[in-house]
Amino acid sequence: MNRILIGAQWGDEGKGKVIDILAAKSDVVVRYQGGPNAGHTIKVHGRKFVLHLIPSGVLYPKKVCVIGNGVVIDPEALFEEIDMLERGGVKVRGRLFISDQAHLIFPYHLLMDRLREASLKRGKAIGTTKRGIGPCYADKMARVGIRVCDLKSMSYLRQRLSDVVRERNAVLTKVYKHKPISFKKTFAYCKKIRSRLLKLAIDTPKYLYEASRAGKDILFEGAQGTLLDVDHGTYPFVTSSNATVGGAITGTGIAPTFIDRILGVVKAYTTRVGEGPFPSQFPAGLMEIVQKKGDEFGSTTGRPRRCGWFDAVIAGHAVRINGLDAMAIMKLDVLSGLKELKIATAYRVNGKVTRDYPHAINEFSAAKPIYETMKGWDEDITGCKKWSDLPVNARKYLKRLEQLTGTPIKIVSVGSQRHQTIFL
Ligand code: IMP
Repeated sequence: MNRILIGAQWGDEGKGKVIDILAAKSDVVVRYQGGPNAGHTIKVHGRKFVLHLIPSGVLYPKKVCVIGNGVVIDPEALFEEIDMLERGGVKVRGRLFISDQAHLIFPYHLLMDRLREASLKRGKAIGTTKRGIGPCYADKMARVGIRVCDLKSMSYLRQRLSDVVRERNAVLTKVYKHKPISFKKTFAYCKKIRSRLLKLAIDTPKYLYEASRAGKDILFEGAQGTLLDVDHGTYPFVTSSNATVGGAITGTGIAPTFIDRILGVVKAYTTRVGEGPFPSQFPAGLMEIVQKKGDEFGSTTGRPRRCGWFDAVIAGHAVRINGLDAMAIMKLDVLSGLKELKIATAYRVNGKVTRDYPHAINEFSAAKPIYETMKGWDEDITGCKKWSDLPVNARKYLKRLEQLTGTPIKIVSVGSQRHQTIFL
């Protein structure tokens, strides 16, 4: 069974935990987009691991992990993560492969990300993770990126890198009034990372094709979420990759006919980190309560996440774009103790009511949610093991989410540990 797992909100839905559960039933786990901007937090036997680049399946000793061509790799971040895992007793060697077609994040990408964000006026900055993601994908599309396989020939690399550095320096000095970067240092950096990186590199589309043909189960692990997708998200307040289902296809080279299931992950409420409109955002007060209770602080940047009610308009958009077969609802326990719960079922945009997600960012910014209110529950649900253990009002809430999104719920998470999960 080949499954794609997708974030159906603005990222941070709790994908790490679901991937960790599904990885147990998979042979190969693959990352297909994004880069070290992602942060998947997994708690196993009371230990916490935060993974940024390496697929979460790595925490199971026998799983093969693949970083696909759609991912942008910061070599230093990758090596740090491998070392962190190996120090923690997780053996990575021999079962982590990276695509030789993946693009590399260079220190100049981090610099550009920082300078570009700093130059944007308030309200215009994206609030990026400053991991060099946007500049690296921009280079990929402009056909001036450097891929893992480009490290094979130093003479080819020298020529390509010198063109890149020349162009980059024109922008750095003229637009940003910054000092130029040194070709010599950048080339030396390539020499430093080259051999360790090339040892991990393989033809990943071929590997995945053959694994699938051989009957192996593959899990495609999404990062970020549908509303951060560069095409289908709240552009320009998005990341620079396709965090929707298409990204899993182009970002790995697997054919769509090889995919059996698509699972969407949502929180029982909504969060967003970084800038950009968020119609169902909580008012102050409730925001702090949920932020604290849900430990809503970014695992990559530590920034507080903005929190709000479940938004069925954006969830419906995610269901359609990704063709979700089922949903996992995360962090239901965080809502315990709230007297009432609201669900945004439609928006009022410039006087008109709509259930559709408005593409124009000024319309989305103007969207006022129309809420439906449901009764909450007081019980601590973190020990619930099955559907019937959940309070009646929690069950009603989940049933309503199913109705509004037209998608069955298969997993309900009631705590951060693996065992705090209800399967339906
Ligand atoms: P970038 O991906 O660093 O360029 O950031 C672009 C936008 O995506 C910003 O709003 C980030 O906060 C957001 N973002 C990037 N990665 C994640 C993630 O893993 N979870 C949640 N938001 C993210």
